Amino acid sequence: MSSLQQKIDQTVAVLQQAAKEFAPLTFANSLGAEDMVLTDLIAKHQPDIQMFSLDTGRLPQETYDLMQQVRNRYSVPLQVYFPDATSTEALVGKNGVNGFYDSVDNRKACCHARKVEPLKRALSGKKAWITGMRREQAVTRGSLEVSAFDADHGLQKFNPLLDWSNAEVWEYIKANDVPYNALHDQFYPSIGCAPCTRAITPGEDIRAGRWWWENPENKECGLHVASRIPKRA
Ligand code: ADX
Ligand code: SF4
Repeated sequence: MSSLQQKIDQTVAVLQQAAKEFAPLTFANSLGAEDMVLTDLIAKHQPDIQMFSLDTGRLPQETYDLMQQVRNRYSVPLQVYFPDATSTEALVGKNGVNGFYDSVDNRKACCHARKVEPLKRALSGKKAWITGMRREQAVTRGSLEVSAFDADHGLQKFNPLLDWSNAEVWEYIKANDVPYNALHDQFYPSIGCAPCTRAITPGEDIRAGRWWWENPENKECGLHVASRIPKRA
């Protein structure tokens, strides 16, 4: 059996076990390459898992195009959550529409209003959530586990692609003709909001284009807070 097939089987087994033990559960779909693999696997093997996207209001056009494609191609509905209008208006009034470039605190406040608060609503009433995070993506992700209790949000969290390599993600996408974000073909391996994502140059880290003006240890948006706590030796 190929190593990709082994990874697929393990991931499907995790999805099946999660759905059996933690219903209702939901998949946080950013529409990045990893999340498109999960979209395809969930649609094929475990369509009772719900899925949602956080539309920050600042996503690239290419991500919206892919969101529409997902809606047309897959039967699992993609529920879209928006930021609360009142708190986002207040934040923009205080810091300016692009105030996130001015300080890490301002950046985190923007991520909080546009991602973290909507995430709380998306997870409300759920017993588990699923992400597309991989261990090798970032220094902040080394100590993640495939299944662990997420104390910040008060429910179980699954990372079923944790041990997949970048090459395996792309092998799956090509072999299964999975739609993907057009920006990936323009040197954007990791995609978030348009103003906080840029292309990388050959040899740069895959998350070098995210919040590129900040230090690597700051580069999480608050969706995955516990993943920043280093494992005890
Ligand atoms: S981030 O924290 O730096 O933004 P990244 O883009 O690597 O995270 O995504 C990690 C995981 O977080 C994704 O696989 C997905 O499960 C979840 N996620 C990130 N952004 C979103 C989003 N806009 N909507 C839904 N889920 C998201
Ligand atoms: Fe705001 Fe940038 Fe965070 Fe998006 S990634 S929510 S624009 S600070």
